[in-house]
Amino acid sequence: MDLHHIIYVSKGININQETIDDILQTAQSFNDAHNITGMLLFIEGKFFQILEGDKAVITKLYESIKSDQRHKNVTTVSAHAIRNRTFKGWSMRFNAIDEKEFTELSGISSLGALFSIKPGPKDNVAFVFAQKFANKSFPSTSWWDRPAII
Ligand SMILES: Cc1cc2nc3c(=O)[nH]c(=O)nc-3n(C[C@H](O)[C@H](O)[C@H](O)COP(=O)(O)O)c2cc1C
Repeated sequence: MDLHHIIYVSKGININQETIDDILQTAQSFNDAHNITGMLLFIEGKFFQILEGDKAVITKLYESIKSDQRHKNVTTVSAHAIRNRTFKGWSMRFNAIDEKEFTELSGISSLGALFSIKPGPKDNVAFVFAQKFANKSFPSTSWWDRPAII
């Protein structure tokens, strides 16, 4: 397998809990069947997603995600070959965080700043940020178990 990741940010359009549930249901069954792993964060109306899997497979999925009417301004912030999966075992991990949590965890000044990140070296800020979620104990053990507020 030609293991790659794609990380993008986008702006959600009229997102509610039902939309999120629908996206996750599609993602979890499709990704599971196609050996795709990753994480989707919903951050005050915007999405941050990392897709991991075979290059051709995730590239095709990304084309479909880009044309999805539930979001716009889909902007690639990282696309690289990877050695290992960061979200092994997760067909699509999900949480909703607020912008304050985002800036604290990422060190990036604002969410808007992510839209101007150019896909560059592998250890770019977007990938470093995503990797922080690989350890379930970060930021706290109960963090992933709390109800996601949309
Ligand atoms: C923010 C966002 C993330 C998504 N992530 C995935 C995903 O990881 N896997 C997936 O199969 N579909 C995902 N989707 C849904 C796809 O965009 C699309 O609905 C799905 O591939 C079915 O496409 P089709 O209706 O053209 O067959 C996502 C949609 C949005 C808006």
